[in-house]
Amino acid sequence: MHFTLFLSLIITLVYANFYNPKLKQGTLTCNSYGCPPTNSTIPSDHCIVANGANYYVSPCTKASTPYCNTTTGLCTANPAISALSYPGEACISSSNCYNGASCNKGICSGNSYLQECSSHEDCSPGLMCGQTNKCIGQIAIGVSGCRDYHDCVNYASCNLTYSSLNGVCVQYATLKNGAVVTDCENGFSHMCASATCSKTGEDFYSTIGVCTDAPMSTSALPTSCAADTDCQGTNSDGLFLTTCECGYTNPGKAFCKPFIGDVPGQNFIKAWVSAMKATNKVCNTARRAANACLTVAGAYESALMATWEFDYYTALQGNDACVKAVITDDYWQPSGSIFLMLSCISALFL
Ligand SMILES: *[C@@H]1O[C@H](CO)[C@@H](O)[C@H](O)[C@H]1NC(C)=O
Ligand SMILES: *[C@@H]1O[C@H](CO)[C@@H](O)[C@H](O)[C@H]1NC(C)=O
Ligand SMILES: *[C@@H]1O[C@H](CO)[C@@H](O)[C@H](O)[C@H]1NC(C)=O
Repeated sequence: MHFTLFLSLIITLVYANFYNPKLKQGTLTCNSYGCPPTNSTIPSDHCIVANGANYYVSPCTKASTPYCNTTTGLCTANPAISALSYPGEACISSSNCYNGASCNKGICSGNSYLQECSSHEDCSPGLMCGQTNKCIGQIAIGVSGCRDYHDCVNYASCNLTYSSLNGVCVQYATLKNGAVVTDCENGFSHMCASATCSKTGEDFYSTIGVCTDAPMSTSALPTSCAADTDCQGTNSDGLFLTTCECGYTNPGKAFCKPFIGDVPGQNFIKAWVSAMKATNKVCNTARRAANACLTVAGAYESALMATWEFDYYTALQGNDACVKAVITDDYWQPSGSIFLMLSCISALFL
């Protein structure tokens, strides 16, 4: 249960939609979410109750059932959290550690330099599982020999020509416009400073592209909308659309998701790049974007907040007090609900 690396997150949640717009037919109508009116209450084991198109939202009050399951609208006990930890991550005993590794001073150990491995997860932070199945050092920026990003230090990706399996490690989000990249998928590249690329390869499956400027909304944020066609942005390649999504407001209202070039998108990239730097030599290479790794590296909250502000931007707009306490509480009261946050966010991403 972890964040998919910010790459695939953007690809699936953002770019897929605006580079290949599947326009919804007609316009959106949104339900309203807010505190119940003063002359009505909701049953004590419920936190969200539908009254026609109005959803009444109210915090769970019983100590034994403090958690609001936003799918069912029922108050339940706090959900259990999986305890399996990987090299570099926190543990209580070795039974928490992946593959029987030992728990040393509260941190799972991994195999050391030149010890055998069958997957990257076997190796200690700073190491990856090389071609001869031995743990060896992750490859530095600018050095060749990577098969994919796992082979590179935690804040780099692999600029790989697929046939060669001998790419060069390039620091995330550093290349200037015009640089050639081999990871251009649906307009996204991990290596471009703008996170944006235009495909140049002729072949449909080609992922060769050049870094270009990030699209920005043509209207000021937040943009109210009724359909995706209201959600326009531009860069030097032309016009793009994001998605129009219902928020959690009373009365119900829809907002455009931001573009990667908008302030929340730029902050999202910055937060994830600095999080990846913080995990280097602290977390296992294959765990660089996992919650437990980000927590040990001290980068969890900043990555989470930036992810909310970009990916869940529409959910945070115009919330009333009950919505902030029950539905978007992981953003508005993060320290109070750090563990619940893990499960909610995982559920949303996976
Ligand atoms: C609560 O008050 C509103 C108007 O303020 C009214 O329309 C509604 O019928 C009342 N509901 C109940 C259950 O009394
Ligand atoms: C919420 O309820 C649904 C349906 O019963 C269940 O599948 C899901 O696991 C629950 N979510 C959490 C976080 O407990
Ligand atoms: C990435 O690989 C392509 C294809 O081999 C190459 O043209 C390009 O210069 C490389 N970019 C960087 C930053 O290494």
